[in-house]
Amino acid sequence: MNVYDSNRMADVLAALGYVSADGPDDADMIILNTCHIREKAAGKLFSELGRLRNIKERRLASGSSTVIAVAGCVAQAEGAEIINCAPFVDIVLGPQTYHRLPEMVARASRAATGPQKNKGILDIEFPDEPKFDHLPEVTAKGFSAFLSVQEGCDKFCTFCVVPYTRGAEFSRPFEDVINEARTVAAGGVKEITLLGQNVNAYHGEAIKGEPGSEAGLGLLIRQLAEIERIAHIRYTTSHPIDMADDLIAAHGDVGELMPFLHLPIQSGSDRILSRMNRYHRIDDYRRMVDKLLAVRPDMKLSSDFIVGFPGERDEDFEATMKIADEFQFIQTYSFKYSPRPGTPGALMQDQIPEFLQSERLVVLQELLEKNQMTFNQESVGNVVSVLFDRRGRKDGQLVGRTPYMQPVHVQASDKMFGQIAEVKLTTAHANSLGGELVTVANQPSPMNEIERVSA
Ligand code: 5AD
Ligand code: SF4
Repeated sequence: MNVYDSNRMADVLAALGYVSADGPDDADMIILNTCHIREKAAGKLFSELGRLRNIKERRLASGSSTVIAVAGCVAQAEGAEIINCAPFVDIVLGPQTYHRLPEMVARASRAATGPQKNKGILDIEFPDEPKFDHLPEVTAKGFSAFLSVQEGCDKFCTFCVVPYTRGAEFSRPFEDVINEARTVAAGGVKEITLLGQNVNAYHGEAIKGEPGSEAGLGLLIRQLAEIERIAHIRYTTSHPIDMADDLIAAHGDVGELMPFLHLPIQSGSDRILSRMNRYHRIDDYRRMVDKLLAVRPDMKLSSDFIVGFPGERDEDFEATMKIADEFQFIQTYSFKYSPRPGTPGALMQDQIPEFLQSERLVVLQELLEKNQMTFNQESVGNVVSVLFDRRGRKDGQLVGRTPYMQPVHVQASDKMFGQIAEVKLTTAHANSLGGELVTVANQPSPMNEIERVSA
């Protein structure tokens, strides 16, 4: 979501005449868009700020000013401290106020040239009016786009800062999402990933301005699939208890919806899931997976794990190992529990020592990586549809993703850049695959190719 937000900030600033700089040294303005989810992510801000201060001073000595802004969830959570500890920061803004950047930039410029240096500008409000109503039209960048449909979270898992930094759950109306998708599709985008901290809790107004007309993600996906040129649809991140029946059904009958779902499980122990306030238990998760497989037998899952949550005993960790094996996730993100300020987990008495967290993480990751490698190896020989949205490091190489998000490298002419093609997978590595273009008699033109894939 930070990638999406950064692009939208770039859209806002483009209206003021800003264009992307090559790097911080020649930038008139630098925005750090930050993540507060774990301490490690948040810690990066402060080391990066030291570097930017030097750049700002160097540029000042040669007569150029630099506006430094800190955006995102660290700004939301620690805004006042940033202003106090880093007086060279001009603007601190939260994830819900970046549509106000033009005013903030104007105020910062006035302050910089005024008689005395004022304190930095701090805007970490949760405005009543959603920012989306004030953002300029989105601009398409590349061939695969993120599209934010839902933000915030009301679940309050005891480890998580998101409900505090992103605020309460909010869904954009259908019309706004569909218009944004149409705009990016007209600009060349063929694949969209719908975003939300709790995306499958989406409940936007099906008729804008009509409370009571709210409908879920399943219907939204069906409507997005109707848009010409949108050939692949994905969504992330989902909560197991919000997998509604209409969303599951969409996996069965919307061809554009990829047979892949990121569904964080966090732990294999019901006792820990309860302490995490996760609402789902392992049996609920199992039932959900069975329902998905019933409508889409080639469905695969990725997941998130936290090890060393307060109170996690050996038997809880063993349960996590067991379910990691049972569900055979094809990709995973696994973390040591990181106590976050203001969350109930941080106040729990029975914190797990770091050495034990590290030990468990190593053991779990070994198993998760083995499962991922097994799936990559099993994929060899399959023919899959791939959108080439990157150029590889080697000459003549294009990179895309399989329906299961595995990066795949293919030797292909540059004419195929931005196209969707059938690829036969030929080699497997730990984190990527190699493949070759399937050459069909009467190879369709790129445009026909898209029509064929979405048909
Ligand atoms: N410590 C460790 N991992 C966390 N996550 C969220 N909060 C924490 C935390 N305090 C992980 C969860 C979530 C993913 C985005 O980050 O696994 O699904
Ligand atoms: Fe955080 Fe996701 Fe739990 Fe919401 S559902 S509190 S975003 S982990």
